[in-house]
Amino acid sequence: METVGILGGTGPAGRGVAARLAVAGHDVVLGSRDAARASDVASAMATRGSGTITGGTNDEAASCDLVVVATPWDSTIATVTPLRARLDGKIVISMVNALTREGREMVPVYPPRGSVAAQLAFALPQSAIVGAFHHLPAAQMEDLDSGIDADVLIFSDDAPARERVAEIVGASPGLRAVVAGSMSLASPIEAFTAVCISVNIRHKAHSYVKMAGLVE
Ligand SMILES: NC(=O)c1ccc[n+]([C@@H]2O[C@H](COP(=O)([O-])OP(=O)(O)OC[C@H]3O[C@@H](n4cnc5c(N)ncnc54)[C@H](OP(=O)(O)O)[C@@H]3O)[C@@H](O)[C@H]2O)c1
Repeated sequence: METVGILGGTGPAGRGVAARLAVAGHDVVLGSRDAARASDVASAMATRGSGTITGGTNDEAASCDLVVVATPWDSTIATVTPLRARLDGKIVISMVNALTREGREMVPVYPPRGSVAAQLAFALPQSAIVGAFHHLPAAQMEDLDSGIDADVLIFSDDAPARERVAEIVGASPGLRAVVAGSMSLASPIEAFTAVCISVNIRHKAHSYVKMAGLVE
């Protein structure tokens, strides 16, 4: 079972993924710019199952077997670049969405190369970049009693890495892995998060993506 480090893991998104992966048996490190803060955040989290959640630096998180990037989009590349040597040869999962708020809506922002995942693939050429977890409502992920039953769309140009992430997601409670395809889907998958959040704002909801018609 891989250890999992989460860069920017102290935010709602990182905590939500940590909660689910720990239940599935992974030991998770919440990475932060402030290790003491990360320890406090980790200590306050409820855990269930055989995995653990601890806090540390982003450098410590990047030393784990598998790494999730959960920073704001405009600090993602600055966060990973100094960690490149630690991330070489590893699966790096991006859940980062480039979005900005305009009134009652979230709208997509298109970074250079069209998506954050593509930016990561350029910045980390020796890592296997996999996109996942983009559309999940963080609070429902962290609350293990929320009853969430969500699909996780997964994309990568590295097929074995994509399949391993699908196995990990599928073993996590409340989540179904749906392999969507290659890195060419990064831009629409990231941008669709703007739709999910805008719907939730407008309807005062915590909806999530569930695709009908898939054979289990
Ligand atoms: N929230 C959701 O429901 C959700 C769901 C799916 C995907 N996402 C995506 O996941 C990512 C994180 O979302 P979030 O809501 O957790 O965001 P967030 O709370 O704004 O940021 C997450 C963490 O990133 C670190 N961070 C903040 N500014 C930084 C900077 N300038 N440089 C380096 N690190 C910085 C902070 O940790 P430290 O201060 O401890 O370093 C913070 O706790 C976003 O890209 C978002 O689009 C979010």
